[in-house]
Amino acid sequence: MAPLPSRASSLLRACPRRPLQCLNPAFATSQQRTKADVVERSSGQYDQTPRFESPFKNKDDNPTTKIPSFANYMSKKGETSNKTFQYFMVGGMGLLTAAGAKATVQDFLVNMSASADVLAQAKVEVDLAAIPEGKNVIIKWRGKPVFIRHRTADEIKEAEDTKWENLRDPQPDSDRVKKPEWLIMLGVCTHLGCVPIGESGDFGGWFCPCHGSHYDISGRARKGPAPLNLAVPEYDFPEDEKVVIG
Ligand code: FES
Repeated sequence: MAPLPSRASSLLRACPRRPLQCLNPAFATSQQRTKADVVERSSGQYDQTPRFESPFKNKDDNPTTKIPSFANYMSKKGETSNKTFQYFMVGGMGLLTAAGAKATVQDFLVNMSASADVLAQAKVEVDLAAIPEGKNVIIKWRGKPVFIRHRTADEIKEAEDTKWENLRDPQPDSDRVKKPEWLIMLGVCTHLGCVPIGESGDFGGWFCPCHGSHYDISGRARKGPAPLNLAVPEYDFPEDEKVVIG
């Protein structure tokens, strides 16, 4: 065996029994503590005193950490009975909600739809048998006056013989009537909206006193500021003696 260097020899002589303690003091200290613990545990003298006071160490002394008991509120009948009740409640609430929604939508639609008087005015039926030949009748339709003239044979001939091509608003009489004896048109002057007077004017038809417009027996503008003929509304004859306007 080769001889050790002089420095190593001196170290070994200084620490003959605990060489590691001398080389690493921290390791030596931990080794000592571990050993002391082992000795204390084996001898039953280990100190079990806790190192800090835990707020949860004793739950019985701290009511805020206690879980309350719901045993008094639990059903005595079992889970099936509870589910039946829950289904019944959910179904009942669903039915009530559906009924409320239906009523709301229905009220909204009823409010938004046309009222009964408006619907009644959309079409007007007139009994023509009550209008004698050569007479005018004025009815109200959608808030406007409508002239119905039961024309005589002479009036029909005069309306048809008129040279309509050179009129201000050229239109033959045949385009303005469905039956020659019945002239039906809106009673609104085409100038500024006055209601003309029947059986008057220079052409034996209607005269508007507001600004002096004259219409002939076919309702065509013949004189004055009116630019157009009196308008003809939609109408039909469902029976011989009846007319429906609108
Ligand atoms: S409103 Fe009829 S002529 Fe002016």
